[in-house]
Formats: sequence, structure tokens, C-alpha cells
Amino acid sequence: MQKLLELKNLVKHYPIRGGIFRRQVNSVKAVDGIDLDIYKGECLGLVGESGCGKTTVSKTIVRLHDPTSGEIHFHKQNGSETVVTDISRISHNALKKSKIRGKLQMVFQDPTTSMDPRMLIKNVIAEPIKGLEKTSSRELESRIIELLNLVGLSKYHLLRYPHEFSGGQRQRIAVARAIATKPDFIVLDEPTSALDVSVQAQILNLLKKLQEEFNLTYLFVTHHLLVVKYISTRIAVMYLGKIVESAPTDRLFERPVHPYTNALLSGIPVPNVNYTPRPIILSGDVPSPIDPPPGCRFSTRCPFVKERCSAEIPKLKEIEPGHSVACHLASETEKLIADKYGSR
Ligand SMILES: Nc1ncnc2c1ncn2[C@@H]1O[C@H](COP(=O)(O)OP(=O)(O)OP(=O)(O)O)[C@@H](O)[C@H]1O
Ligand SMILES: [Mg+2]
Repeated sequence: MQKLLELKNLVKHYPIRGGIFRRQVNSVKAVDGIDLDIYKGECLGLVGESGCGKTTVSKTIVRLHDPTSGEIHFHKQNGSETVVTDISRISHNALKKSKIRGKLQMVFQDPTTSMDPRMLIKNVIAEPIKGLEKTSSRELESRIIELLNLVGLSKYHLLRYPHEFSGGQRQRIAVARAIATKPDFIVLDEPTSALDVSVQAQILNLLKKLQEEFNLTYLFVTHHLLVVKYISTRIAVMYLGKIVESAPTDRLFERPVHPYTNALLSGIPVPNVNYTPRPIILSGDVPSPIDPPPGCRFSTRCPFVKERCSAEIPKLKEIEPGHSVACHLASETEKLIADKYGSR
């Protein structure tokens, strides 16, 4: 599989300022050293509890936020040659000039707040195209109609305002806007969470259809494991600013190794005959990302914590092809979990 994006020790800390001079007194360690490869044509699911840093990773990859440190390598095909650019530090102007800006797009959870309510739909969709290239207004209009058709809307919707649409239709418009610049990669940040179940299914099917048609690569952010199981080919699990486990979707459901992944899966009913969830109830709250625990971030809630876990940060290591886990006890967790909570 060819890589499209490589995150290397990616860090995003938000400064906390205080005092009359607004000096930085601390920081929120929202993303705290992430290594992750995203492959061409895949849909990578990113899951984890609220506040673990999913949106921050997403916004940093598409450079809506500047990373604090680390690298983001973007692999771009130039004829038969692959050109790799570290986009973590290049200026927004250079990003635009190198034509990478339009290749990375994002769809947000709430289509109501991600659109200017005073803009006509044709301008909402035209905005990213106009920012990147010069096109005649006739050409632009026919392209917008084509985009509306692709997402199941029509030219009659061109001259309407966002409030004149249902939530599902607004999310279709957001998808049309995201694919307007012919991107390679789209982050979908909880794109269906604000929608009711039947509309969720329509949007998921639309996203799948567009992915196949345009060979798109997705990062699908959600806390809904059933949704991610349906749409993703691979899943990365995040906890307090770090990736704790990543594996092909089926493998993650068959053989979750990290205690946190096990707890996540046990909390959600999964209609899978081969999978019987065990109730693994975690004690305590998620620690604050302002002052995360030293060593393993999960050590304060892990039922199997050992001395080493509170002292040393575990590295993400491959335990079988394509399956990586960041846990000092990775080789024993399956037995430990079976002994404590019963086997599946
Ligand atoms: N602009 C910001 N300034 C300061 N702190 C921020 C900012 N954006 C996010 N944070 C903090 O960073 C941490 C991670 O937030 P983020 O939105 O990435 O989480 P998330 O995993 O997307 O959560 P959710 O599932 O609720 O959307 C949180 O503690 C949040 O309060
Ligand atoms: Mg979020």
C-alpha cells in the first residue's frame, strides 16, 4: 500500500495564558507525539473518548492549526514520481502555491456552524475553488451544479441559503464543498453525529460512493464504533493525546489488545456473532490534558497497571502485521483480561 500522509511525532499543545501580561503559564497537551501512516485509498477511523484530541489531530493534519512540533509528510504523485513534502512548517501561501492546500479538506460535525448563514449555496461551494484557481463564472456554475448532482442535490438548490435545508442536506453541501477542489484526502470529523439514524446511513453511503469514484482517502473521526466498523478499513484508537492501538478494522474487533481498546469495545453493543462484549468498567475520570500522567497516559485507569507503566511511556510497536499497540503489557493483556473478566 502506498502512503499518502505520514505523521511523525506530531505534537499540538495549546498555550494557557495568565496574569496581566498574558504570559504562557501552562499548556493543554491535546496531541502529544503521534506517529501514524495514512495509506492511499483507505478510510482510517480515529476513535477515542471526548477530549482525547481527535479534532486537534484532524485540524493539524489539514493545517487549519499549526503543529507545535513534529512532521506531516504529504506524498504527492507527479507523473510516475512521488514527491514527499513536509507540510508541517511551510507557510499557508507556500501551501497554496504548491497546490497541496486544495488536496487536503475537512468536513465538520455541525454543518450549520461550518457555513456562513448569509451565503448562497452556490457561493458556499464556490469559495474553496475561487481561493485556489481562476475560473470563468459560467465554468464555475456548471462545476457547482455537477458537484450538487454528485451529492444528490440539484441546480434548483443553487440560490438558497443554508437555513433552507435539512441537516442531512446541509451535510451533503458540506461534502460537495470538500470535494470541490478535487482533494486526495478528506478528514470527516463526526460527519454524521448531528444527524438522525436514517440520514446518517444516507450520508455514509454517499461518502463510500464518492470515495470509490474519486479514489479518496479518508480520516473518519467518530466515537461511534458501529459507524467506524461500517465505513473504515483500519482503525486507530486515541487516548489522551496519543495513539494506543491501530489495526485493520476486523482485526481490532477480533483481537483488541490494549486494555483501553478492550474497555471501549466492551462499552458499546456490537451486533457481531463472533464478538461477545465483556463489561470492562474503567474506574476514575480521564486525567486532564494540562497535566497528563507520566509514563503511560492510561496508567491511572488501567486495571493491570505495573510500576513500569507509571514511569515509562510505551512506544507503539507492531505485534502482528498491520497491528500496533502502545502498552508495556501487550504480550500479556489478552490473558490478564480473560482471567479477570472471563474469555469471549
Ligand atoms: N483552540 C483550543 N484552545 C485550547 N484548548 C483546546 C482548543 N481546542 C481543543 N482544546 C483542548 O484540547 C483537548 C482535545 O480537544 P479535541 O477537540 O481535539 O478533542 P476531541 O477528541 O475531538 O473531543 P470530542 O470527541 O468531544 O470532539 C481538549 O482538552 C480541549 O479542551
Ligand atoms: Mg472533536
